[in-house]
Amino acid sequence: MQVIKTVKDLQAAVAAYKKDGVSIGLVPTMGALHEGHGSLISAARKENDAVIVSVFVNPTQFGPTEDLDAYPRTLDADCEMAQALGADIVFAPSAREMYPSDDDTWVEVTGSITAVLCGRSRPTHFRGVTTVVSKLFLLAQPDRAYFGQKDAQQAEVLKRMVKDLFFPLELVVLPIVREADGLAKSSRNVYLSAEERKAALVLSRSLAGAAARFDAGERSGAALAQEVREQIEAEPLATIDYVEYYALPGLTEAAEPLTGDTLLAVAVRFGTTRLIDNVILEGNK
Ligand code: PAJ
Repeated sequence: MQVIKTVKDLQAAVAAYKKDGVSIGLVPTMGALHEGHGSLISAARKENDAVIVSVFVNPTQFGPTEDLDAYPRTLDADCEMAQALGADIVFAPSAREMYPSDDDTWVEVTGSITAVLCGRSRPTHFRGVTTVVSKLFLLAQPDRAYFGQKDAQQAEVLKRMVKDLFFPLELVVLPIVREADGLAKSSRNVYLSAEERKAALVLSRSLAGAAARFDAGERSGAALAQEVREQIEAEPLATIDYVEYYALPGLTEAAEPLTGDTLLAVAVRFGTTRLIDNVILEGNK
């Protein structure tokens, strides 16, 4: 496995792949790799000739008061894991390499899809994500790019971007990987104290409860969201950012009673750590 740090070297490697007609799978990450990322790398390994994993803590998707400086950076361990899962290239550029100019060129998906949920509390976040992912797509020229359902809104926004900008690739979205007790795996889980870690289980527990009620026939999105909200509010260490539901695809307002697929999503703070989790209520099942 090669570790590539410059745009120029990545472009050369990709040009060689293209010349040989090699299919490319791209897994964009911010590092601190865990089994959630691992599931994406493994899928990319199965479905492509070459696998590129990017490890880049993207400054433009962090707000001014967010955890950019504290975000865990574990490149050596990340490379070991990527190699063990069969990656061919880890692309780990510097911020200067990815953003060579002091002025900014942005790729931005506008409208309610980026304004709701995390877009409300993190107003510049998705612009940062779509800009860096566009750069990665143009550099790696993947046939397939892999993302997790853990960041459900990010996946929806990126699907829209791929469609609107005619990126010639397949965007693959894979299920949330969880700890044995249900907590969604996240690079940010390392910030949690033991008590917060325990309290955070209310997220997966309340969402699973709502999914079970939905499967049993409850079709009021408001009632399902209210039940999740009450359970989280009962947890003293939890502070709710949002508990909301939107229609899929596209995150439009969900009509009541719920009919098609609906995303029920939460963002909750435990101390200074903000966690997200979600479930898809599959009305089309
Ligand atoms: P990061 O948080 O490192 O996540 C990289 C990818 O791993 C994302 O597609 C995310 O949804 C997926 N992922 C994270 N936790 C997961 C879990 N528990 N189960 C399944 N998939 C999981 O998301 C980003 O980085 C960045 O925004 C990025 C797309 C790299 C752009 O900077």
